[in-house]
Amino acid sequence: MKTYEDLEGDGGSNIIGQVVQLGEKLRSRLDKIKHKVALMSGKGGVGKSSITANIASCLADRGYKVGILDADLNGPSIGHLLGVGNDLKLETKDDGIEPGHGYQGIKIMSMDMLLKTADTPVMWTEEADATAVWVSTMESTAIRELLADTNWGELDYLLIDMPPGSDRIDNIRSLIPELAGAVEITIPSMLSQHIVTKSITKNNKMGVPIIGLVENMATYVCPHCEKEGKLFAGEDVQKLTERKEIPYIGKIPFDTRVSQSKSGSLFYSEFKDSIAGKAIAETVDNIEKFIKK
Ligand SMILES: Nc1ncnc2c1ncn2[C@@H]1O[C@H](COP(=O)(O)OP(=O)(O)OP(=O)(O)O)[C@@H](O)[C@H]1O
Ligand SMILES: [Mg+2]
Repeated sequence: MKTYEDLEGDGGSNIIGQVVQLGEKLRSRLDKIKHKVALMSGKGGVGKSSITANIASCLADRGYKVGILDADLNGPSIGHLLGVGNDLKLETKDDGIEPGHGYQGIKIMSMDMLLKTADTPVMWTEEADATAVWVSTMESTAIRELLADTNWGELDYLLIDMPPGSDRIDNIRSLIPELAGAVEITIPSMLSQHIVTKSITKNNKMGVPIIGLVENMATYVCPHCEKEGKLFAGEDVQKLTERKEIPYIGKIPFDTRVSQSKSGSLFYSEFKDSIAGKAIAETVDNIEKFIKK
């Protein structure tokens, strides 16, 4: 058997050439996308995916070409939110894989679309003792492939729906160094504020521009009379933005219709005149202002 010492050069694998080629493929995809924005929190379950989907809906409504990369490989939800089932037959053309086309023509790519059935979980390896480093390497490779192999075409915005965990930005930042910035999302609870603070600190350390903080489920809006009341106890989220010196860019109330809007549309497109709909539009105004700056 040959050992590494017996190999000459790269042993004929042209490994450097392969890496360069992969890098060029990713670059040529990303060059066609004007603004890449990550939506994140550190904390799970605060509404990252729902807000990503509705911000995309509002941007599409304003005439922008929008795509969403579902970077949550283990709990993908963008396909479900945009009406693209896992039964979609992915088409591979000369220029890569055709993304899913969700409501309002929003292009999406998600791990969900690659799994056998809607109930299939992501299994990185059959090995029960696979190390965290190995799993993280596989995750990183998967995201690179979802980005580089998808034929996104020309886009104004690519929104990246991040999984929970403040360390997940490392991978995205290394794949997309020109990331326009991150939108941080929290609910008013002190636990969520505590965790989003870590994510903000991490982004500051890495030099990822923070577009601003969105407060989701800030209040409860009664669907019958549209009266607002507080949903969670917790210190004023605006104080957190002052302490961390970042813009407060949105206050979105809890509205049961966010998770129930009729099939074939997203909450924003159906209820843009509701309090939550207007709050989403205001958040998008602030994102646009940041991008224009
Ligand atoms: N403003 C809102 N009003 C009502 N329900 C909401 C609102 N925002 C999110 N939700 C609901 O809260 C739940 C969690 O939302 P979502 O899945 O978007 O969170 P997430 O942060 O992406 O979660 P994960 O960390 O698992 O990815 C969903 O059932 C969603 O419909
Ligand atoms: Mg999510």
